[in-house]
Amino acid sequence: MIYFDNNATTQIDPEVIQVMLPYLKDQYGNPSSAYSFGKHAAGAVQTAREQVAALLRCEPSEIIFTSCGTESDNSAIQSALLADPDRRHLVTSKVEHSAIIKHAEALARRGYEVTWLDVDSGGLISLDDLERAIRDDTAIVSLMWANNETGTLFPMEEAAEICRSKGTPFHTDAVQAVGKIEIDLRQLPISFLSLSGHKLHAPKGIAALYVNRKTRFNPYLIGGGQENKRRGGTENTASIVALGRAAELASSAMHEENSRVRALRDRFEQGLFATVSSIQINGHRTQRLPNTSNLAIEGIDAEGMLMLLDQKEICCSAGSACTAGSLEPSHVLKAMGYSNERARGSLRFSFSRFNSETEVERALQIIPNAIEKLRAMNRGFLAA
Ligand SMILES: Cc1ncc(COP(=O)(O)O)c(C=O)c1O
Repeated sequence: MIYFDNNATTQIDPEVIQVMLPYLKDQYGNPSSAYSFGKHAAGAVQTAREQVAALLRCEPSEIIFTSCGTESDNSAIQSALLADPDRRHLVTSKVEHSAIIKHAEALARRGYEVTWLDVDSGGLISLDDLERAIRDDTAIVSLMWANNETGTLFPMEEAAEICRSKGTPFHTDAVQAVGKIEIDLRQLPISFLSLSGHKLHAPKGIAALYVNRKTRFNPYLIGGGQENKRRGGTENTASIVALGRAAELASSAMHEENSRVRALRDRFEQGLFATVSSIQINGHRTQRLPNTSNLAIEGIDAEGMLMLLDQKEICCSAGSACTAGSLEPSHVLKAMGYSNERARGSLRFSFSRFNSETEVERALQIIPNAIEKLRAMNRGFLAA
């Protein structure tokens, strides 16, 4: 199998599996228990907190472990709404993940007002639009760091600075950015940041929310006093330990992610452009994650391509995994102004440090033929 769908989820790093195993077997103590067996688990959770904080360059006390990126996103927004109930306006963009979009839509149904920022054809918001959208009653601005479909990177520094200057809490959904690009929270006035383990070679079902120490936090899950009273629920020790190690490995692989993985992606694109006509990149050409390639391929339908490639054991995506299975064209590509036809003929390939040059070369043997086959079939269908 050739796995080019690392924005959907990633392989767990074998080193990560190694460090979590003891906590699934012998070290099953509850981190809240007072005896040494529990304290050992609490120590492991604290080490993981330090490892995640080191990746983001923040304080360990600013990290709350959660169950998924969706929970982190939801918690940040709910916290800001509770912090100032008179503020009933939110700002976000049209290209966010459904963890933000569906939540904002649900809030709109409950009487909140939402401003949806447009993006241009490269998938970028306008900072002027952002500045104009923020009002005195804006409870929170939520903007993703990197787009899961196209890899386009929003101008984080500038967006965070605008929010800071207006005194508006700022959340970034950095689920696709963390582990792929350098993040230094010491330099950025961000209130909340979400990340998710399964996008950086840790297991599914573990994630974190960064809450700036100057930001008041209102818990989303109310229960026991875990996570310094900020998130009830017995800690998922093994997965937390895994996320900590994955964060540490991401730090040391960052240079590789930005060079070797980028080179794999660029070679893949260059190879396809050299052999297949009428292909275009969806997303910003330079302000883009190093691992993501979203391609509009004229004359194909993405669903058909996915089936052909599946037969050849190549995994990639049409739009995001969460919208796959629906025939709706991607909301991200639509927001960028592309036609339904272009959106339906677009595929996302996303690479990781576990991919090799050999896999890219093999894919470059297979994919052009599959495109040609599908184009011929579609031409025949139209002629019939
Ligand atoms: C940008 C973005 N935000 C949030 C999520 C949700 O993360 P999780 O699957 O951990 O809930 C994803 C996952 O695809 C994502 O890509």
